[in-house]
Amino acid sequence: MTEQFFTNRVALITGASSGIGRATALRLAAAGAKLGLAARNGAALQEVADQAAEAGAALPIPTDVTEPEQCRRAVEATVERFGKLDLLICSAGLSMRAYFEGSALPALERVMRVNFFGTLYATHFALPHVKRSRGSLVAISSVTGLRGIPSYGVYGASKFAIQGLYESLHLELKKHGVHVGVVSPAFVDTPLRDNVLAGDGQPWHVPPPPPFRIWPVEKCVDRIVRLIVKRRREIVLPWFVGPMLALDRLLGYGFGNWLLERKFPEESPP
Ligand SMILES: NC(=O)c1ccc[n+]([C@@H]2O[C@H](COP(=O)([O-])OP(=O)(O)OC[C@H]3O[C@@H](n4cnc5c(N)ncnc54)[C@H](OP(=O)(O)O)[C@@H]3O)[C@@H](O)[C@H]2O)c1
Repeated sequence: MTEQFFTNRVALITGASSGIGRATALRLAAAGAKLGLAARNGAALQEVADQAAEAGAALPIPTDVTEPEQCRRAVEATVERFGKLDLLICSAGLSMRAYFEGSALPALERVMRVNFFGTLYATHFALPHVKRSRGSLVAISSVTGLRGIPSYGVYGASKFAIQGLYESLHLELKKHGVHVGVVSPAFVDTPLRDNVLAGDGQPWHVPPPPPFRIWPVEKCVDRIVRLIVKRRREIVLPWFVGPMLALDRLLGYGFGNWLLERKFPEESPP
């Protein structure tokens, strides 16, 4: 079913040079999709394009998603090369783990610029094309975009912002046949952790280890594919986070707060 669904569909993936974006690109390419690959690292994008099953099926487009013009160019280059755009997947992102107090403003702003504005710009320019093909807009959010978590204040804020934007888009675009979906993973095994910012805006040498299970990236790609094929509005990885959050709300957040305060204490780089 997946094979048929993606054959000759055209997707633009931001953050395609690494992690979830890269693994999704390879999966969709194997299923017959044509791809625009956007991220800053052109050499890494070329490697992904070289690994795509069919020669010429993936176009590397070096892009900094914090620059609106570059997002416009990424969309246009994809449409020029493949004739249309059916699917946008916004996976470009940057993590920060630091308590808010004492965090430097430029670092906080950078996280918002990459995660939220990067998604907003790409979505803005892709929308007319995706609307024409009655396709899908997909954003990779996070469990931190569903529940406040200590030390993920601004990272979570960037993901809550994505959730809000995409929830509104879902309602605005339903009548036009556009699917709008959000994927909210917990910890996934990708190089994201190599670049987690500390409060001063520098990457942690070794960030604190995640206190919960880390999920294989292929499992996350399975969820993304399911969301697109079934045109679902939201998917959470792992599935039981949804019921846990509902229970947390039902219990007045007391137990959840107690647990999260213990699992995510204030820590500073050595
Ligand atoms: N891994 C997790 O545990 C996890 C959990 C929940 C949500 N997520 C979300 O999943 C998404 C993908 O993360 P990942 O785990 O795959 O991390 P990753 O392996 O570090 O990939 C991040 C991607 O974002 C791109 N990127 C960063 N800044 C960019 C910029 N200014 N312009 C363009 N591209 C930029 C990077 O490419 P370049 O460096 O080449 O630009 C890279 O391709 C992110 O939105 C992240 O917040 C991840």
